[in-house]
Amino acid sequence: MLTLTLLVGLLPSAFAASSQAFVAPSTSPFVASSNYVGVSNSTLPAPTIVKGQAFDRFIQIWLENTDFATASSSSTFQTLAKQGILLSNYFSTTHPSQPNYVAAAGGDFFGLADDNLHNIPANVSTIVDLLEAKSISWASYQENLPSNTFTGLNFASKNYVSGSGTYTYYYRKHSPTVSYLSVQNVPKRLALHRNFNDYVADLAANTLPQWLFVTPNIVNDAHDTTIDYTSSWLNYWLVPMLANANFNNNRTLILLTFDENSSSSINNQVYSLLLGGAIPASSKGTTDSTYYTHYSTLSTVQSNWGLGCLGRQDTNKTVSNVFSLVASKTGYKNTNVTTIPLTNKSGTIKGPLNPSNLGPWTAPNTAAVCAGGGSVFV
Ligand SMILES: *[C@@H]1O[C@H](CO)[C@@H](O)[C@H](O)[C@H]1NC(C)=O
Ligand SMILES: *[C@@H]1O[C@H](CO)[C@@H](O)[C@H](O)[C@H]1NC(C)=O
Ligand SMILES: *[C@@H]1O[C@H](CO)[C@@H](O)[C@H](O)[C@H]1NC(C)=O
Ligand SMILES: *[C@@H]1O[C@H](CO)[C@@H](O)[C@H](O)[C@H]1NC(C)=O
Ligand SMILES: *[C@@H]1O[C@H](CO)[C@@H](O)[C@H](O)[C@H]1NC(C)=O
Ligand SMILES: *[C@@H]1O[C@H](CO)[C@@H](O)[C@H](O)[C@H]1NC(C)=O
Ligand SMILES: *[C@@H]1O[C@H](CO)[C@@H](O)[C@H](O)[C@H]1NC(C)=O
Repeated sequence: MLTLTLLVGLLPSAFAASSQAFVAPSTSPFVASSNYVGVSNSTLPAPTIVKGQAFDRFIQIWLENTDFATASSSSTFQTLAKQGILLSNYFSTTHPSQPNYVAAAGGDFFGLADDNLHNIPANVSTIVDLLEAKSISWASYQENLPSNTFTGLNFASKNYVSGSGTYTYYYRKHSPTVSYLSVQNVPKRLALHRNFNDYVADLAANTLPQWLFVTPNIVNDAHDTTIDYTSSWLNYWLVPMLANANFNNNRTLILLTFDENSSSSINNQVYSLLLGGAIPASSKGTTDSTYYTHYSTLSTVQSNWGLGCLGRQDTNKTVSNVFSLVASKTGYKNTNVTTIPLTNKSGTIKGPLNPSNLGPWTAPNTAAVCAGGGSVFV
């Protein structure tokens, strides 16, 4: 990346963030840090494990704004790929960031094409409703979230990378569930938005839930930085986690992905890897070229645990293939999608969150067939 480093030095200060060198937010990913404003008050209760057909825990880790080719060129990603399954035909749903996270929780992005603060009506269901209906524990770990009740747009705290001033490390736009009032308005659910000091406590107590979403802060996730910075973060945080049985055991499936790629002029392919002990030795280092999207994270979880569904894009057979590793165990039949839909569109899709193409809040399609065989949640 020598040329990039030289180039960055010549660019105006708006681009200076990308030249930051990795600084670890704590002395170790297993140790709480004063760089996170929130202190952990308690750990989650130990989960009662609900058995799934292919895995008992699903962990999503979302990084930011990187092209498939850029991630592929990183030796860290290449090393991780040898331990997992590369999903070589996985696409994001739209641009910019926020609608992708919203889609991964609720099965639609409702026309959204901005990163502003939106509250989605309480009658719109999410993955949380489906998981809770089967008593499957969940939590969303947002690295620099200041407190478990914070619902603001962003939060700045001590700039631990430069050592001086403050930096806006937390952004609500990267939190998949908080914008849904069906989650935000229920104190027990809001409290399951936890920061990385809570994470450290939950990990140590072996109380990580069965479904968890991990959002690294805005520098660790490559948003304000580069693939090199994120690779350093993965070596600092994820690599030791993979070796920790409280995070990863032989019933854990991990998805490492990116919210979107970095150019909207071409279709929206993102680098995605399946990792974790649930991957059989014979599949490690292989590639799965089935067409997947962020909606596949919903259908895969539904199929694994026999859940109900949302009756939205999570049941659209074109965009919701179940990860083959799981489909082969549950008997789910995927669709052979040969014409990949263009998901580099933004702002053109009709919906209640698109002021330039307004549509209604529609009810879920109750006639939809759920990947897990359950019924549409209303
Ligand atoms: C811990 O509890 C204190 C006092 O109730 C609260 O102010 C703080 O936000 C809590 N910490 C987190 C991480 O939520
Ligand atoms: C998974 O780990 C458990 C607990 O260590 C062990 O009992 C079981 O045999 C392992 N299963 C496989 C398929 O490795
Ligand atoms: C989306 O990608 C396609 C195919 O690469 C391209 O032809 C099209 O112009 C892009 N759309 C936008 C809005 O940039
Ligand atoms: C976005 O994904 C497409 C694949 O559809 C890839 O060709 C392209 O390289 C990616 N983005 C950019 C900026 O190149
Ligand atoms: C299913 O997804 C495809 C590809 O995005 C889209 O063209 C189609 O309209 C969707 N179907 C429904 C019922 O939403
Ligand atoms: C998908 O369809 C294409 C085109 O018909 C075909 O070449 C390919 O073998 C099919 N793949 C699978 C996995 O069925
Ligand atoms: C859900 O609530 C919104 C906003 O209050 C309302 O516009 C919409 O009609 C409701 N949808 C259903 C299916 O009840």
